[in-house]
Amino acid sequence: MIRIVQISDTHFGEEFKPEKFREAVRQINEMEPELVILSGDIVTWGIHTEFREAYEAIGDIQAEVFAIPGNHDARNDGLKYFRLYFGEVKKSTRLDDLVIAGVNSTLPDSDDGYVGEEQRRWVERTFRRNCINMLVLHHHVVPVPHTGRNQNVLIDAGEVVESLMLHCHGGVVLAGHRHVPYSTKLLRTHIIHAGTLSSYKVLMPDNNYNVIEFEEESIRLKLRFVHRGEVEVGRFAIKHGMPGAVELYRRLSSTHRVLFIASDAAAAEKIARVFNRLSPENMHASVATPESRRIGELLEGADYTVALEDFSRADEVWEELSQDEVEARLRGLVEKLLGAAGGER
Ligand SMILES: [Fe+2]
Ligand SMILES: [Fe+2]
Repeated sequence: MIRIVQISDTHFGEEFKPEKFREAVRQINEMEPELVILSGDIVTWGIHTEFREAYEAIGDIQAEVFAIPGNHDARNDGLKYFRLYFGEVKKSTRLDDLVIAGVNSTLPDSDDGYVGEEQRRWVERTFRRNCINMLVLHHHVVPVPHTGRNQNVLIDAGEVVESLMLHCHGGVVLAGHRHVPYSTKLLRTHIIHAGTLSSYKVLMPDNNYNVIEFEEESIRLKLRFVHRGEVEVGRFAIKHGMPGAVELYRRLSSTHRVLFIASDAAAAEKIARVFNRLSPENMHASVATPESRRIGELLEGADYTVALEDFSRADEVWEELSQDEVEARLRGLVEKLLGAAGGER
């Protein structure tokens, strides 16, 4: 069993309640978790004195602390102090079969959340099949009710969710931000939000944090109030494997680039024009000759290649066809590519 404690929104500075923080640290040290995850809003205004105070107080936690920034940390160019005391804004670690990737979802001086393509690709590369993959970020991936502003989610939430489904295969997301603990399941991903550990802006009976225990096939989630005891939220089974719908939608929305190759560029042009007239919106044909300077690159970028003469690097060769035969072949090719997009047709 791996025990992780998730704390969030400590808000050192003017919102900070020291007695809540001190008591929580005492409890956490008693629990001896393998890791403490701090999902952002460590401070309130992003200023140096707050970060220094936070660093010193968080130093009382005996377990390793894995921290990523929140929108408040990014205020007033605060991420430079975040880096000074808490390391990189995006980082990963691994505990046995648990792979943890933390990203920076903040934008300078903005409350909006954004992960961005570069970090999404990095998360995809970091996650491992047949492990429990965990994404840590500050902002919401799905709206959290009872927060007063439930539409406040990542700008690129859709992309993040799809990327999780395609690469996470049954994982966990940990976030904070709206000071309301909440957990929900999206297909095979468990999304867990922590409330605020020590801000006076608390939307619950008491400040709180999450205790998450990973067993081989399940996750046990407990919501711990600092001075009001503990509630077991639930035990969730971990299922690996991707829901078919996600892959199907991705294939349907992807584009298809077809390349016609012929020494006679004009002949290839003519066929490509017919293809472009017959094909649906997500397909496009272009042409090349076997001697084209960028032939390697063009072949690489094409989803399907047809040569009008013997050319070993093409997917298909159409030699000496009549006009009618060409049109029939083109229609067949469109159907074939649509079939690849649609799965079983
Ligand atoms: Fe916060
Ligand atoms: Fe926040």
